[in-house]
Amino acid sequence: MAEDKRMWGGRFESATSTHVAEFTASVDVDKRLALDDIRGSVAHATMLGAQGILTSDEVKRLVAGLEAIARDIREGRFEWRTELEDVHMNIEQALTERIGPLGGKLHTARSRNDQVVTDLRLWLRRAVRSQVRALRVLRLVLTEVAQRHLNVVMPGYTHLQVAQPVLFSHHMMAYYEMFTRDQARFLGSLSRVDVSPLGAGALAGTSFPIEPRTTGEMLAFASTASNSMDAVASRDFCLEVLSHCAIAMVHLSRLSEELILWSSHEFGFITLPDSHTTGSSIMPQKKNPDVCELVRGKTGSVCGHLMAQLMMMKGLPLAYNRDMQEDKEGLFAAHDTLLAALQLYASMLPAIEVHPARMRKAARGAFFNATDLADYLARRGMPFREAHHVTGRLVALCLSEGTALESLPLARMQEVCPLIEADINTYLRLDNAVDARKHYGGTAREQVERQIRQARQALQVDGGGFSER
Ligand code: ARG
Repeated sequence: MAEDKRMWGGRFESATSTHVAEFTASVDVDKRLALDDIRGSVAHATMLGAQGILTSDEVKRLVAGLEAIARDIREGRFEWRTELEDVHMNIEQALTERIGPLGGKLHTARSRNDQVVTDLRLWLRRAVRSQVRALRVLRLVLTEVAQRHLNVVMPGYTHLQVAQPVLFSHHMMAYYEMFTRDQARFLGSLSRVDVSPLGAGALAGTSFPIEPRTTGEMLAFASTASNSMDAVASRDFCLEVLSHCAIAMVHLSRLSEELILWSSHEFGFITLPDSHTTGSSIMPQKKNPDVCELVRGKTGSVCGHLMAQLMMMKGLPLAYNRDMQEDKEGLFAAHDTLLAALQLYASMLPAIEVHPARMRKAARGAFFNATDLADYLARRGMPFREAHHVTGRLVALCLSEGTALESLPLARMQEVCPLIEADINTYLRLDNAVDARKHYGGTAREQVERQIRQARQALQVDGGGFSER
């Protein structure tokens, strides 16, 4: 039989069917790991040399060959071949074509199982850091937007019904808090991503006298896996990053939904910038919030990628199973989507036009000050439950007369509740409803300013939270 071209072909008598080769190939997806793969291989070869497993001349030629391939890849000159299955075998084959049979020594004391997860961890470590940086930029943008519109009062909602007035800046800073936690979550997972699995071999380690901690250090991993089976079999580091992506997307999606509502004719709170909206092919008057809608829409895909990977892993016996090849596509997609969305939002938010008069008008409607009236009565000694009830009767009275609490003559109020006095007017004013909430975390301007101040300090200290490697 002619020599089998497939790297693992020795024990096979007949060729793989083309359909099978196509079905099992992953190079279209995993070629994204190519430069990390080469970096891992260089470290591996160097360690083999240091341990006396390869000669220093062999190592030198292997490394030179790998670096030449890296150059070809960077310059777009490398030809990817599906029939070679994946990124690892494409590169190894190219290496052998370039430097001869010595190329075959690179895989000494290594398996694709520890190789692929090394690549993935190298890639993901960088990916996590870029999410951290993008989140930090968005947080910075949010504090700037909040600072710029400090005097804008808008309706705060529960059940999407006008509830109590809040500062627009308070609303923005609520998102700042969410993205701060998102950033911390990404950062927190870094120590579990940043682990070197190289040396685990297929699953049990290798009979060669390797030193996994040397390769780990050469690749600047923070630690080295202490169990070879866990090293090749686990993907919880991907799952947690996927879940951070999903949570951050959900935050962006809620913000999107609000921007879509606020920019509608009915709300009229904001105008989205032309740069981040599109027109309709039939209705000339339209300006559609497509970026917001697509961020909201893509949140579904990102959450789906998390579910897909959880399901992919749930029934797998230790250690490596080919199912795990499916770990990359969704992870790459979720990462790309979140990063793009964060960057788009960081550029869009400062360009949003805010309409304070419209917001203020909307905030005035629908008995925004009912809670303040009840609080007023409670401060005068009436149990809050009763104050709630009395206020409810005054609201009903207003509804039947088509008026608002602040417009009801004092005498009419006093008929319902004699505890009410002339000073009630102060308490029913829109600005009072905001200013009165001045405890820690409240919507009063002084508190919002305090939030922004603290945020700025936090952003200054926190340059991202990691050292570059
Ligand atoms: N393409 C494979 C993956 O992404 C590489 C590891 C293959 N290992 C194996 N024993 N078939 O998981």
